[in-house]
Amino acid sequence: MIAALTGTPGTGKTSVCTAVMENQELCGLYHIIELNKLVFGEGLHTGKDNIRDSYAVDTGKLEKKVKQETSLVPGGVDIIMDGHLSHLLPADIVIVLRTEPGEIMTRLLKRNYSSGKIRENADAEALDVILVESVEVCDKVFEINTTGKSPQDVAGYVISIIESVKTGKNPEKFLPGKINWIEQAGL
Ligand SMILES: Nc1ncnc2c1ncn2[C@@H]1O[C@H](COP(=O)(O)OP(=O)(O)OP(=O)(O)O)[C@@H](O)[C@H]1O
Ligand SMILES: [Mg+2]
Repeated sequence: MIAALTGTPGTGKTSVCTAVMENQELCGLYHIIELNKLVFGEGLHTGKDNIRDSYAVDTGKLEKKVKQETSLVPGGVDIIMDGHLSHLLPADIVIVLRTEPGEIMTRLLKRNYSSGKIRENADAEALDVILVESVEVCDKVFEINTTGKSPQDVAGYVISIIESVKTGKNPEKFLPGKINWIEQAGL
């Protein structure tokens, strides 16, 4: 099983994967592919977009690298791709992490992101951009509200979704459509 763990920057994808790898019962059962590391480690981008303060990723090259790494993973070990572009790569399921936009802003401020970049990410989260992209490309999409949850709690949800789908179930609680930040903000 290949699961794409995606979500707006700051929703906690890498923190969740770290929590999985720090859990002695889980770490041998899953292989994490951290896409950001591949992109910057292997130079899989076409340069910096100074206006958007971000790098344009070469998704074709990234897909090739991921395929190479995937082919080396022993059978029986499930793969979790960690990255906000992971839903654009071939996967069996997509799990979208969601976080209340104000909380995203607080988290990204700690990273010294520019105010424009913080605003762009908070807006993208408010407008469900990654969820919408995900349902367009995959028919098994789930979303998790991480607001107020620890990375360990969220890791538990991620694993329960993967294991449920493997046994042919469709975890209702995490089906898309239950999270609406705009309604919650009363806009
Ligand atoms: N569940 C959580 N509760 C509180 N803070 C969190 C949680 N998950 C992550 N954080 C904090 O939010 C920040 C961003 O987390 P993280 O790097 O895991 O996000 P990400 O989704 O991997 O982002 P990116 O797409 O940029 O790689 C970090 O400072 C992290 O400590
Ligand atoms: Mg990350």
